[in-house]
Amino acid sequence: MKCKRLVDVGRRQFLRGSIVGATGAAAATVLPAKQAQARSLARIDYPSNRLANIADLAVNEPMDIAYPDPDSPGVLLKLGQPVEGGVGPDGDIVAFSVLCPHKGWPMTYNAEDKTLNCPGHHSRFDCEAGGQQIWGHATQNLPQFLLRVDDKGDIYAEGVDELIYGRLSNVL
Ligand code: FES
Repeated sequence: MKCKRLVDVGRRQFLRGSIVGATGAAAATVLPAKQAQARSLARIDYPSNRLANIADLAVNEPMDIAYPDPDSPGVLLKLGQPVEGGVGPDGDIVAFSVLCPHKGWPMTYNAEDKTLNCPGHHSRFDCEAGGQQIWGHATQNLPQFLLRVDDKGDIYAEGVDELIYGRLSNVL
């Protein structure tokens, strides 16, 4: 009797080992395909849109822009000192979506502390720190537009680092 029980335990362990082994082998063959699919879903072809020229900007005076399309309002800023994600000769030009990541209210720029502020539920975002949320209900930082400056001083937006409010994909 004791002997038969040990045989049963041994058979169960053998079967479990086989299942784990088979699952592991299947995972090993399936995983690269899944990773490839995830990568292809995450890849977005952003347009390269000219926003302005460096000569059009004054320190701490926001310029209304839109990117990657007219339905996505944003702001272009020259902050006067090098900042995270800043481009141009002074590393101080940045651009952000102005749609609050909480519920999409349009935000306004406060030149005194260089923040974007939401009139909806008072979320605040630091433009000198890559759009980091510093107060409020939102659960993500502000989408920052990735910029490039060419040798003529033209400023182009060419990507977005967070999901723009209300979208399933930044590029529709
Ligand atoms: Fe901006 Fe709620 S919509 S904090």
